Amino acid sequence: MMMMRSTAALFTVLSLALCLFLLDQTDAQAQAPSSAVGTALVAEVCGQCKDKDLCLSSLNADPNTQTADLSGLTLISIRVATANATDTSAYISQMLKDTSLEPGVQDALNNCADYYDDVVQQLDDSLAALTVRNYGDLRKWVETAATEGDSCGAAFTALGEADKLGVVGRTRTLKQLCNNALAVISLLEKNKQ
Ligand SMILES: *[C@@H]1O[C@H](CO)[C@@H](O)[C@H](O)[C@H]1NC(C)=O
Repeated sequence: MMMMRSTAALFTVLSLALCLFLLDQTDAQAQAPSSAVGTALVAEVCGQCKDKDLCLSSLNADPNTQTADLSGLTLISIRVATANATDTSAYISQMLKDTSLEPGVQDALNNCADYYDDVVQQLDDSLAALTVRNYGDLRKWVETAATEGDSCGAAFTALGEADKLGVVGRTRTLKQLCNNALAVISLLEKNKQ
């Protein structure tokens, strides 16, 4: 009986020790997310994003993601947003050739063409800031790009019509892609890599 009790006591002590050890490990991981690279890092970043699927699919689409560290993934996430903004910019130019569009829609498109020129420029500026590790400017330019995209969306929403050209949807995608980049930037700032 005595023997069984002490075995049980020993077991309890060992379980507690194991729990504390595991807790400690989890803490260490939470504090050092920078140790993750590649797909593990992407999973960590995208876990914090609103549109997790878009985050995972857009970042994993680039083969360089497989081995990317935080700086590398920041670069990739901004490139993804830039590619999308450039694509929308081209789409808007294409739409502007349609002379049968109502004047209000044409105006909104013209505004959006300007906004998206700015978006591409700002994302470019953010890359320059990343190169010199100016994380404040890096964040600022990505945030500004997302806001300019919103302004384009607002120009269309103000028309009060259905979004027949899908521009508002495109501005939402851009915003998500910028938010994904901002999630990576937050980790980068935390780890000052
Ligand atoms: C950008 O996002 C829109 C969806 O909003 C999509 O139609 C388009 O193909 C995307 N372009 C790129 C290059 O990612």
